[in-house]
Amino acid sequence: MSKVIAVLGAGTGLGVSVARRFGREGFRVALVARRKDRLDTLVEVLAGEGMEAVAFSADLSQPAEVPALVGAIRDRFGRIDVVAYGPISGDQGFTPAAKLDAATLQDLAPLLLFTPVEVVRAVLPEWTERGEGAFLLAQGYSAAQPMPHLSGLGPVMSATRNYLYSLNAELADTGIYAGALTIASLIARSEVSAAAQAAFESADGPHFPVVDPDDLAEHCWNMYTKRDRVEQFHPESLTPQATA
Ligand SMILES: NC(=O)c1ccc[n+]([C@@H]2O[C@H](COP(=O)([O-])OP(=O)(O)OC[C@H]3O[C@@H](n4cnc5c(N)ncnc54)[C@H](OP(=O)(O)O)[C@@H]3O)[C@@H](O)[C@H]2O)c1
Repeated sequence: MSKVIAVLGAGTGLGVSVARRFGREGFRVALVARRKDRLDTLVEVLAGEGMEAVAFSADLSQPAEVPALVGAIRDRFGRIDVVAYGPISGDQGFTPAAKLDAATLQDLAPLLLFTPVEVVRAVLPEWTERGEGAFLLAQGYSAAQPMPHLSGLGPVMSATRNYLYSLNAELADTGIYAGALTIASLIARSEVSAAAQAAFESADGPHFPVVDPDDLAEHCWNMYTKRDRVEQFHPESLTPQATA
């Protein structure tokens, strides 16, 4: 039975590129986001390229719904081998640290921290039984590198990054891999990249380059196949230096 990747947060940016990269290797694809019409379009695009993809409409800001979602994907495909987690929308913007409040963090945490933890909990038994599996987390650069005016997302994503590092180490030698792709670029073709660009510019923040999501998907494939690092930065030149 061919392998299955579940792309949780599947849009026109990184999501569909990851689906396509793994689909090219023979993976069947579960595409997950809220808007069914947009997912159906992506399913058609992938089908036109000879790939088997199925749309699953779900709200990933509801961690309690994760078992039902994972169950539905398993019912359809029989298995899940890889999860790529990277949902983002215009609802998740940057906030200056001086203006950050608990309510903002509370809004961000379910989608960016609680649900990925629940997804891992839901797939780990299957992966442990098989001795194989991979969880690939996509996140923004502020998860690893604090920047003035670009807070809110960073504190929550950095908590998820912290969790992922522990997970990666705990799963070493089990055949199960957990890795993070940390992106210090705007993603071409993504719906939210224009808004992110505006936030960087108004914050007089760094001017990030634009990356083709196909190049990021290649990182995901390399992380999955090589499993030689817990975190991959793009561009690599922006990998933060460890402090003494
Ligand atoms: N875009 C950038 O410039 C950029 C820069 C740095 C890092 N990143 C990171 O890279 C990853 C991919 O970003 P992308 O913009 O390329 O993504 P994408 O694959 O273009 O789209 C992500 C999809 O996530 C879905 N989503 C958002 N909220 C959701 C929810 N509550 N439940 C289910 N699905 C939800 C959205 O669809 P629905 O609205 O239909 O649900 C959206 O289409 C993300 O982790 C992001 O943080 C992005």
